[in-house]
Amino acid sequence: MKQPAKPKRLADATLAIHAGEERTGLGVPVGVSIARTSNFTFESTETMKLLAEGKTSAYIYTREGNPTLEVAEKKIAALERAEAAIVAASGSAAISGALLSVLRAGDEVIATRQIYGGSYRLLRDFLPKYGISVRFVEAGLAGIERMVSPRTKVLYVETPTNPALRLVDLRKAAAFAKEWDLISMVDNTFASPVLQKPLEYGFDVVLHSGSKYLSGHSDVIAGAAAGRAALIQQMRRTLVGLGGTMDPEAAFLLIRGMKTLEVRVERQCENAMKVAKFLAGHPKVARMHYPGLASHPDHALAKRQMRRFGAMMAFEFKGDAKKSLAAARRFCDRVRIFLLAASLGGTESLVVLPIYTSHVNMSAEELRGAGVQPSTVRISVGLEDPNDLIRDLQQALA
Ligand SMILES: Cc1ncc(COP(=O)(O)O)c(C=O)c1O
Repeated sequence: MKQPAKPKRLADATLAIHAGEERTGLGVPVGVSIARTSNFTFESTETMKLLAEGKTSAYIYTREGNPTLEVAEKKIAALERAEAAIVAASGSAAISGALLSVLRAGDEVIATRQIYGGSYRLLRDFLPKYGISVRFVEAGLAGIERMVSPRTKVLYVETPTNPALRLVDLRKAAAFAKEWDLISMVDNTFASPVLQKPLEYGFDVVLHSGSKYLSGHSDVIAGAAAGRAALIQQMRRTLVGLGGTMDPEAAFLLIRGMKTLEVRVERQCENAMKVAKFLAGHPKVARMHYPGLASHPDHALAKRQMRRFGAMMAFEFKGDAKKSLAAARRFCDRVRIFLLAASLGGTESLVVLPIYTSHVNMSAEELRGAGVQPSTVRISVGLEDPNDLIRDLQQALA
C-alpha cells in the first residue's frame, strides 16, 4: 500500500485487500506468499545471543512468529480498528488464550449465558478446574451489578448470540466493565468487523472464529483476537506457551478469504433478509429469530449497533416439542441447496440443529437459558441466488 500513513481513514473493503501487505517496486508478488517454514536462520551466534537477551527481534520459530501470520494479524487489526491482533489455531484457541492470559486461580468471570456451546462448555467445565469461577448473566445484562465482586476480572459476551440471535448492548457492557475495572471481551464471529466494531464501543478485546466469515470459504480452522497492543502481547505469550498459534497455510487461506470479506458479508446480509422474510411468513414457522425483522426483540438495538443485520438466523416449527422436532428434522433432511452441516459464514447456505451440534452436552435447563429449543433450526445464509434458496426452502417445507 503506498499510503500506509493513514490506514485508519481507509474503508473496510480497501483495508481487507491492502492492510498488512507491502507491494510496490519491481517484480514484487501481488499474491500473498506462504512462509511455509517451521524455523528461520540466525545470521551468527552473536545475533542468536542478542535475540536470547531480547536486545533485537527477528523470526526464530513459526510458533512464535511468521511473516504470513503477521499479514493476517495486521489485516484483522486494521478491520477491527485495533492497535494489534493475534491469530490463533482456532476460534476456541483465541477465546481460551484470551481468557487464560488475564485470569488466575481465585478470579471470576461474568459471561452471558447465550453464547456458542463450545465457549459455554469452556467456561462451565474447564476454567473451574483451575480455580476460576464463572457466573452467567442474560444477554440483556439484567442484574449484572449484583453479580460483580472484587474477584471479578473479565466480562465475556457474544453478540449476536449463537444460535438464538439475541444481542448484547455493546456500549452498555463496555461502560459497565470500565466502571468495575473488568477486562471486557466480545466474540464478534457472527457479525464480523464489517457489521460491528466492538472496540469502538469501548471493548478491550474482540475475538473471532476465523473459520467463519473472516476466511469465508469453509476451508480452514482459524481464530483471532484484537485489542490494545499490551493485552495482545500478553495473549501472545500465553498462546505461544500453550501452543495455540496458527499454521502459515491456514494464515494464507484466512488472508485470501478476508480480501472479499466486505463484498461477501454485504451480499449475504441481502440474501438473509429475503430468506428471513420468507420464513417469517411461512405458516409452519412458529418463531423466527433474525435481528433484521421488526418483530425481533433486539431489532432497535441491532439498528443502533450493527451496520446491517448479518446472515445468521434461526427458527422453530409449530407444534409440541415432539412434533416440532420431527418437523425440523424432516426439513433439514429435505433441503437440497442448503447443506446440512455445522459451522457458518461460508459461501454455501447451511442448516443445522444446534441441539445435536454446537449445543450438545447441555442440560434441558441450559438449553432453555441459551434460547435453544429442540426444534431450533439454525441457518447460515450463503452467496447462492436468493430465489433459488427460497425455492429450496419452499420445497423442504412443503
Ligand atoms: C460464535 C462462535 N465463536 C467461536 C467458535 C469457535 O470457533 P472454532 O471452531 O474456530 O474454534 C464458534 C464455532 O462454531 C462460534 O460459532
